[in-house]
Amino acid sequence: MAGTSGHCRKRICSVLVAELLLQLVVTLAETPLPGHSIDKVPDINRLAQMWFLSGTVMPSHRSLILTPGVADRIGTLFNRYPILTNDFEVSFTFSAKRNASSTTNVENDGFAFWYVKENATEALREPSIQHTHNQDKLIAGSWHTDYAKDGLGLLGYKNHFNGVGVFFLNTKEGKTVSLKANDGSLTPEIGNGLPDKNQLHFDYQNGEDNWVKIRVTPETIEVTVGSSGVLRLDRKNEPGGYIGFSCRGADQGSERSAVVELKGLKITNFATGAGEESIAKAEPAKPLTDAEKEDMLSAHSSFKDHRDESEAIKELTNMVFKLIVETKPAQNQMVQALEALSTRITKVESSFDLLKAEIDKKTGHKLAQEFESIKKELVDIQGFATKDTTDRGKKLESLHADIEHAHRTAASGNDLTGSLDNLHDSSNKVLEQLQGEHKRMFGISIVAIAFILVAGLSLYNKFRCWEKKHVL
Ligand SMILES: *[C@@H]1O[C@H](CO)[C@@H](O)[C@H](O)[C@H]1NC(C)=O
Repeated sequence: MAGTSGHCRKRICSVLVAELLLQLVVTLAETPLPGHSIDKVPDINRLAQMWFLSGTVMPSHRSLILTPGVADRIGTLFNRYPILTNDFEVSFTFSAKRNASSTTNVENDGFAFWYVKENATEALREPSIQHTHNQDKLIAGSWHTDYAKDGLGLLGYKNHFNGVGVFFLNTKEGKTVSLKANDGSLTPEIGNGLPDKNQLHFDYQNGEDNWVKIRVTPETIEVTVGSSGVLRLDRKNEPGGYIGFSCRGADQGSERSAVVELKGLKITNFATGAGEESIAKAEPAKPLTDAEKEDMLSAHSSFKDHRDESEAIKELTNMVFKLIVETKPAQNQMVQALEALSTRITKVESSFDLLKAEIDKKTGHKLAQEFESIKKELVDIQGFATKDTTDRGKKLESLHADIEHAHRTAASGNDLTGSLDNLHDSSNKVLEQLQGEHKRMFGISIVAIAFILVAGLSLYNKFRCWEKKHVL
């Protein structure tokens, strides 16, 4: 009996252990790929080590800015190393906030998530040095033509890409998210093949934090855009793809487009094997030259700190250069806007003077002066009317008091009572008449004032109308 129960216990134990192991394997299978992930506030060193950044892409203290909303500029962000699995999930949060003060409708801006076969860094490195970061070409405005000539005409990456793109586009047809695959044989452009029919209508420029999940399996790709919907594509996916983002502000000459920020990117491996090279190994080990060997020695010397410092200063200098280059267009736009405004004001002023002169000539009157004198008269009249009314009121009061006095005196002496009463009555009548007259006069002066006010206001309105019609 004891033997049987012991055997049972052993079996239960082994089942439990097996289950635990299975659980462990499942958990192990979902591993994050830190070399391909970016924190909400990016770690600059990790970013520089694992990613290739060009153009408008810039880390800030709160996110990774893909574009600060400058028209006719592109930015790219690609991982330097492949994802070694074809069973993984990409999840990222972004916000795109359009420029509230734009008066015209900015179009043809957007950004894309890429999952491509080639080492995109390799493909973008030369063109970005030649064109995107070329000061002369930036100033001349010719950089994008040359960049597109290199086949990089699709939001800063290749039209004839080999892989999959998730496109967030703002076009005439509205704002969409679409999913498109290409084996390098198609050359889609925005407005010609893009947005793809496999699309969701979604205002991705809503200024909010939107999340996106892209699940890649060996056979499919599934894109979930927040709670707005899901896009699916059946497609053979090979391990060894490169991921990244690219974006483009609106067409040349447009106003500022939306500011796009990446607020965290996380890649999770669902396969059991390694999903990426370990970060430490990712740094390619170059054979050392003699000079570098020397460097290795000195790296451990007491001057190491200085060397690190100057390295950091070099990085900083590069960053500052990028910053200046990328904010230049915005500065130029501001200067232009200010200049345009001041010339407009000058024009308005001079045309106002011209108009005044014209009116004076045509009517033979000095309108402005006349208006002034009308105003003055109005004030004078009002003054007179008020004074007059008060004076008359005072006189009436004293008259009233006199009569009252007489009445009282008369009442004390009996003889005269009758005749004085009569006098009192008749004087009361006179008083009433006078009061009536006084009221009428007051009314008339009010009407006069009102009339003059109305006339003045309508004249003033006339001026306002001219101003509105931009005659002045
Ligand atoms: C991809 O290209 C870049 C730039 O040439 C290079 O630094 C990087 O090592 C390449 N990646 C791989 C895995 O070869």
